[in-house]
Amino acid sequence: MQPVLDYLKSNETRFVRELCDYLRFPSVSAQSQHKKDLAACAQWLVKRCRDIGLDTELCPTAGNPVVLARTPRRAGAKRPHFLVYGHYDVQPAEPFELWKTPPFEPRIENGRIYARGSCDNKGQHLAHLNAVEAFLKTGTELPCDLTFLIEGEEEVGSKSLGGFLRENANALRCDAIVISDNGLPAIDLPALTYALRGILAVEVILHGPSRDLHSGIFGGSVDNPAMALCQLLAKLRDKHGRIAIPGFYDDVLPLSAYERRQLARLPHDDCKMAKFLGAPELFGEKGFTATERRSARPTIEINGLTSGYQGEGSKTIVPAWARAKLTFRLVPNQRPEKIRAAVLRHLKKLCPPTVRLEVKAGHGGDPYLVSPEGPLAQASMRALKTAFGREPILMREGGSIPIVNDFKKHLGAETLLLGLSLPDDNPHSPNEKFDLACYTNGMRMGACLWPELAAANAPAKPSKRKPGK
Ligand code: BES
Ligand code: MN
Repeated sequence: MQPVLDYLKSNETRFVRELCDYLRFPSVSAQSQHKKDLAACAQWLVKRCRDIGLDTELCPTAGNPVVLARTPRRAGAKRPHFLVYGHYDVQPAEPFELWKTPPFEPRIENGRIYARGSCDNKGQHLAHLNAVEAFLKTGTELPCDLTFLIEGEEEVGSKSLGGFLRENANALRCDAIVISDNGLPAIDLPALTYALRGILAVEVILHGPSRDLHSGIFGGSVDNPAMALCQLLAKLRDKHGRIAIPGFYDDVLPLSAYERRQLARLPHDDCKMAKFLGAPELFGEKGFTATERRSARPTIEINGLTSGYQGEGSKTIVPAWARAKLTFRLVPNQRPEKIRAAVLRHLKKLCPPTVRLEVKAGHGGDPYLVSPEGPLAQASMRALKTAFGREPILMREGGSIPIVNDFKKHLGAETLLLGLSLPDDNPHSPNEKFDLACYTNGMRMGACLWPELAAANAPAKPSKRKPGK
C-alpha cells in the first residue's frame, strides 16, 4: 500500500492541475447551449481514464453520454466487483455577477479550488480515479474489479440512467456501489452517510377569472387566485413546519434512540448556522434538533411562487392565475406515489369553489436507508479512519440521489455514501469550492477503500460460507 500512497503524494501537483482542466468545461446539463461542452467534457474524461489504464467506453444515451471505465479484468477466480458512480455535469452557474472570479476559470486560494462543479461532483470522483491510477501505475494489485460509471445528467434528474442500468445490468452487476457526491461534517470528521431523503415535486396552479381584471371595478366580486393560493398553501403546514396533510406522516419511520445519539454527535450550533445562512433564526418542527430536521424529518418547501404583476411601480389587478412549485423531502418509509395521492386529495378538499385547481405532478424519488452495521459499511468506516486519521461518524443527509434506488433495483447492490464535500462548499450556489485537503484525503480514502471492501465482501455472502456454519 505504501507505494500507492507515495505515488498519490508525489503526483499531487499534477492531480490538482488535471482537476482544473476538468473544471474548465462548462458542462451545464440544464442548458441546451452547453450540449457540446458536455460532449467535450465526457471526451476529456474518456482520455483521462484511458491514460490511467482503464478500459474505457463512451456510451451514448438519449441524453448525455455515460462514461464507463473498467480496471483490467484478470482471468481466473471471480473477484468482488464494485462500481464507483459520479457525474460530470454541473448546475447552472447563474447569477454570474455573484462569483468572485468566473465559474469556469478555476482559482486556487487558501488551499481551496473555486469553480462550478468543484465539489459537486468533479473533484469528488476524480479523487477516486486518481487513487486507482496509483494502483495501476505502481503495479500494486487491486484486490477487486472496479467499474467507474460517470454520467452527465444527474443535475437534471438522471433521466437516461435508469434505462441504461436495466440494459447493462449484467455487465454492471456488483457487490456494492460507492458514491462520493455528498458531504462530511468537517475535514477532521469523516463520515459514512447511511440515509438520504427522497423527493416529490408538485406544481399547484389556481385559475380565477379568464384574464387579469381591474381590481377597483371587479375586486370584491370575484376571488383573487393569488390570495386563495396563499391561504391554501398556508394550510399545508403549521407554524412550526409540521405538515398538515392527513396521512402524511403515516409511514415515517421513527428515529431510534441510537440514531438520535449519533446525529447529536455531529458538530452543530444553531446560532452559527443561522449566521452562516444569513437567516434571522432557525426554524422547524418541535421536538427535533436542527440536524434531525434537515436530514431525517420530512419537509414541504415552496421553491417558487408566481402571480400577478411583478414589474416596476404598481398595477391594480385581480390576477387571472397563481402558481407555486412545491417539493416535499421524504424520509424512509415514505413513498412519493402515496404522498402525491395524499397531497392531491387534500388540495382538492381545501380548494374553494371560487377558483379552479390544477395540479401538475413533477418528479419523484424514493428515500434511501441502508444499515450502517453491514460488513461493507464497517469496512468503509475503517478506510475512512486510515485516510483521515480520525474516527468516522455515521450520518444521514437531507439531499437526494434518487438513482441509488435504481442501483439497488437493477444491480442488486447497496450504496456506500462517502462524501468529501464540506458544509461551506456552496454547491448549487455562487462561489462553489472544494478544499484541496478534501481532494487529497479523498484520494487516500480511495486507496484504502478497495483492500478493506474486498476483504469484507467474501464472508458477507452466505453462499461462500462453509457448510454447517
Ligand atoms: N449531490 C447532490 C445531492 C446531495 C447533496 C446528497 C448533499 C447529499 C448531500 C445532488 O447533486 C443534488 O443536488 N440532487 C438533487 C436531486 C433532485 C434534482 C432529484 C437534490 O437533492 O435536490
Ligand atoms: Mn451532485
